[in-house]
Amino acid sequence: MDDLSTIRSEALGAVQQAADLAALEVARVAALGKKGSVTGLMKTLGGLAPDQRKEFGARVNQLKGEIEAALEARKGALSASALSARLVNEKIDVSLPARPEGQGSLHPIGQVMDEVAAIFGEMGFSWADGPDIEDDWHNFTALNIPPDHPARQMQDTFYLPTRADGTPMVLRTHTSPVQARTMLDKNVQKMLADGGSLRIIVPGRTFRIDNDATHTPMFHQVEGLVIDRTTHMGHLKGCLVDFCRAFFEIDDLPLRFRPSYFPFTEPSAEVDIGCSWKDGELRIGAGDSWLEILGSGMVHPNVIANCGLDPAIYQGFAFGMGIDRIAMLKYGIPDLRSFFDSDLRWLRHYGFSALEWPSLTGGLGR
Ligand code: PHE
Repeated sequence: MDDLSTIRSEALGAVQQAADLAALEVARVAALGKKGSVTGLMKTLGGLAPDQRKEFGARVNQLKGEIEAALEARKGALSASALSARLVNEKIDVSLPARPEGQGSLHPIGQVMDEVAAIFGEMGFSWADGPDIEDDWHNFTALNIPPDHPARQMQDTFYLPTRADGTPMVLRTHTSPVQARTMLDKNVQKMLADGGSLRIIVPGRTFRIDNDATHTPMFHQVEGLVIDRTTHMGHLKGCLVDFCRAFFEIDDLPLRFRPSYFPFTEPSAEVDIGCSWKDGELRIGAGDSWLEILGSGMVHPNVIANCGLDPAIYQGFAFGMGIDRIAMLKYGIPDLRSFFDSDLRWLRHYGFSALEWPSLTGGLGR
């Protein structure tokens, strides 16, 4: 046996015996690697006479090809058996019960915003938004509350650092600044000039310096605004009566419109709904008590003028309501602060299924 056939049988033997891919790689390096046995043979070619070199070179090349083919074949075999081993070991037991997945729920505030939007949506209102950080002009001045006006004290305001241009900034104390932002919108003004009618609701966050069982520094309101040439106080009444009866799902819910004062409306009315107390428990509906739930009125001509519209032509009504408050009343939630505690047990109890969108036809509340 010459050198070549020894190397051949050793290399092919090592390939055949390799028990896994790592061992196969060791066999490959031993034969064909930089310091491998076949590579060593190649290196001896240089020292041979030309005719010998040709003949021996051909045999070494053939050996190299043979080993490469054996490596390839063994690799295929090892991979196939590795796969079948995995298939045996990693069997999936489809009869095991599925691991339960936590399902989220909608926060009552979001649910009530959707319910409010569903009702007003049916009446032709669309949903408008505005910034939480508001400038003093939109939050107060445009709404007929000029600087130094005593009505500014009606709402305890979080003031923010003034902007570089000197504009005083606040966390909006109500959603009413979005009235001004909407009326000032050039597209809205054009729509009104063309004889259209503006109807928006503005559900959103509001902020006041207040903190007890019935007040949190951050709370939610929904504003409503209707502007056109003919809307009057009768429409305001009809709209809010319809809303309250639909929202509380009580067809004969009594409502009381009480004269009130807001700088941005004239005349103004606060709206109460009928209720009764039995054994310390509140019942909404006919009864001998009243609960205040919203403020409203005909938009003050000064506000209409401040927002670039002619009050001799345009008129309408506005209202503002606490979302947290109507959510508490409808769903029997006793403490306002619990809305914002982020307690999962509370959310599981008071939360709503995310897959059921409230609608007047499909059912509002649950
Ligand atoms: N912005 C008033 C408040 O926060 C509510 C309101 C809105 C009253 C619109 C009348 C008209 O108290």
